Amino acid sequence: MDLKNYIREVQDFPKEGIGFKDITTLLNNGEVFKKTIDMCVENVSEFDFDVIVGPEARGFIVAAPMSYALSKSFVPIRKPGKLPSETVSIEYELEYGVDKLEIHKDAIKKGQKVLIADDLLATGGTVNAIVKLIESMGAEVVGMVFIMELSFLNARDLIGDYNIKSLIKY
Ligand code: PRP
Repeated sequence: MDLKNYIREVQDFPKEGIGFKDITTLLNNGEVFKKTIDMCVENVSEFDFDVIVGPEARGFIVAAPMSYALSKSFVPIRKPGKLPSETVSIEYELEYGVDKLEIHKDAIKKGQKVLIADDLLATGGTVNAIVKLIESMGAEVVGMVFIMELSFLNARDLIGDYNIKSLIKY
């Protein structure tokens, strides 16, 4: 099954000149969505982890069903002001300005092994910040999995020496 056939490209979104890879068309096909999650699960079968972390919002679509399939904990990473209990946060650079992500302070324990799951690896800015956040909590990132990777943005150079899996490369 070529998952690329189910991903729609929308021109000039969110800005002129950008071809947005839209996974809603993939999600809208139950069999293909299930196969996509199954493939993410297969891709991480060699990794040993306790927890799957996924960033809001599209990361939840990948990380939560993987957690369900593997009976692993799911830990959400959220945009500021959404998590009710005490949080740890990290700021990271965007092309213009900064963004911030938060995680519950007690959600990951020292020494735990963590897998990161998300729909897209683009510049790598988001996942790079998540890695720093998790490591600042004394936990270990054992790998990361994405449905899509925009290889031409060279995120792997930014992220460094981690186990990175992606189902589709553009
Ligand atoms: C998207 C995507 C990844 C991130 C990838 O999330 O779901 O988390 O961008 O881009 P990067 O590698 O350049 O950091 P977005 O911030 O658009 O939020 P959303 O999931 O709420 O749509």
